[in-house]
Amino acid sequence: MQYIEVSVIIQFLLFCISNANPLIGNNIRRARDKEFSFIVSISAKTARFDALSDHICTGTLITNKHVLTAEHCMCSNIHLCQVIAGSNNLYEGKKYNIRNWISYLEWIEKNRFHLEFAENDISVLTLLETIADPEIEPANLSTMTNRDLIGIDVVVAGWGRTNTQRLAIIMETAMLKIISKSECLKKVKKISQTKTDMIVPPTVLCSIAKPYTLLDNGESGGPLLDTNNHVVGVNEGTTPQTDKPFDPNEVNIHANINYYRHFIMDTISN
Ligand SMILES: *[C@@H]1O[C@H](CO)[C@@H](O)[C@H](O)[C@H]1NC(C)=O
Repeated sequence: MQYIEVSVIIQFLLFCISNANPLIGNNIRRARDKEFSFIVSISAKTARFDALSDHICTGTLITNKHVLTAEHCMCSNIHLCQVIAGSNNLYEGKKYNIRNWISYLEWIEKNRFHLEFAENDISVLTLLETIADPEIEPANLSTMTNRDLIGIDVVVAGWGRTNTQRLAIIMETAMLKIISKSECLKKVKKISQTKTDMIVPPTVLCSIAKPYTLLDNGESGGPLLDTNNHVVGVNEGTTPQTDKPFDPNEVNIHANINYYRHFIMDTISN
């Protein structure tokens, strides 16, 4: 009974994630050269390839051949997608082919593990060849506990839509703060005005900025970093969805690395 309630609630929370919102806010700036050398673009391979319009999602190199990203960024055919790494400028990165790509759900099924929550927006892809660029340094995962994460300053970066609605050619970054589950729930309930019981599952982290900074789908799959550039989460989007183009009171939702650590470590060790 408990389980069913919980999964319904999570579905509610995640299905309401809006991916039409721009990265909007006041503290957004362009990333400095090599500031986030581990951040990559995942893009479609098209006949007339254009790094900007073919950009699908952002991802994070966690080894020199593994990219951590969201499940909703996965390409149905890995041969039609590629990873672009090595530059803040989308047009100047090098292209890498993808060998395979596994979601948390596929990993759970393959290993016959018990699935605790219905929605798990996280995946790891493996490149066909190892990245040999000495300028690219893979990111490390944070080992901070959930309790220690509450209230800390965090950073997002990627190629999303800018304040002016155009997709960013140069990587942008912004500072956020992780909020507690109770604060997150309070904010979500206030906007959605729903009577349904909701919880924030342990699979996600919520973040906000003051006055506000909201993720765009271009940053989807990119990292949520602590101020030492350790990965604490994977960007999913904003919630809840409203009928306005955006609501400054929405919260950003990220997959929580602490919850998915076993999946990630197992996948990169194989
Ligand atoms: C990850 O950890 C290794 C070993 O401590 C370190 O050399 C490297 O600089 C770290 N990577 C980043 C991007 O900080």
